[in-house]
Amino acid sequence: MNYDNLPSWWPSDKSWIIQDCLEGMKSIPTGGVDLVLTDPPFNVGIEYGDDTDDNLSDENYAGWFLERLREMERVIKDGYPIIVFSGDKKIHPILDAVEETGLTFHHFLKWNKPTGQRGLSGWVLFYRTELALLLTNGKPHQNILNREILYSDTLTVENTRPNDKWAVEHPCKRPEGLYEILISGFDAPVVLDPFLGSGTTLLACRKTGRIGLGFEINPEYESIIRDRSMADVPELKGIFDWRNEPELEVVSK
Ligand SMILES: C[S@@+](CC[C@H](N)C(=O)[O-])C[C@H]1O[C@@H](n2cnc3c(N)ncnc32)[C@H](O)[C@@H]1O
Repeated sequence: MNYDNLPSWWPSDKSWIIQDCLEGMKSIPTGGVDLVLTDPPFNVGIEYGDDTDDNLSDENYAGWFLERLREMERVIKDGYPIIVFSGDKKIHPILDAVEETGLTFHHFLKWNKPTGQRGLSGWVLFYRTELALLLTNGKPHQNILNREILYSDTLTVENTRPNDKWAVEHPCKRPEGLYEILISGFDAPVVLDPFLGSGTTLLACRKTGRIGLGFEINPEYESIIRDRSMADVPELKGIFDWRNEPELEVVSK
């Protein structure tokens, strides 16, 4: 593994940094990132095993997220996308925060899970879809969207199985196939995930030949991020070699 392709401004020799993303993003130059793909704490009482309070009042949650969203707004290139997953129950504070920025909300991407959702907090009856906000910094660049890959706003991808090796280690591990589709859907060489969790974004970036960067506040997750993001990928693909993209299996029609 080598990290020769990390941007010169990135202050680490690893693609992840264990730090509050609010501080961490300050080291990223304005417009330095081509895609933000992230899954912040949903504020639904999930235990992340650290000081993260996932039970804030709606107002405090909106304020907490807004501070970090403003940094995402600064680091994303003009016209490029920010994708933010959100839990249905607490989507209103996320939308309130978006309203406070200059970001443009386009629509929701819908992740459809054919076999449903693992119950995490005990307060969910049932659901099979999860929403992600698609935002851009200003007028969207139409020509960065790979319409052959993201030809639908509903993506059907199996969820992580409860007995998945990494799901045992992290409560919210996403299936990398979902992230591979989202990342490949845009001509975006440098991808940032401010809330790495188990490192799904980094693994998906390596599999699709993107430069993945991110932050995670909980040091206990560092070994998961390291081991997972290096798994199953024998070597880095050509970072800007868009023509040699692997064929992705997109289940949704
Ligand atoms: C919903 S999980 C992300 C899961 C991830 N998408 C995955 O597939 O594993 C949110 C993560 O954000 C982390 N986190 C919470 N506050 C943070 C902050 N201020 N900066 C960076 N990471 C933070 C939590 O520890 C948790 O691991």
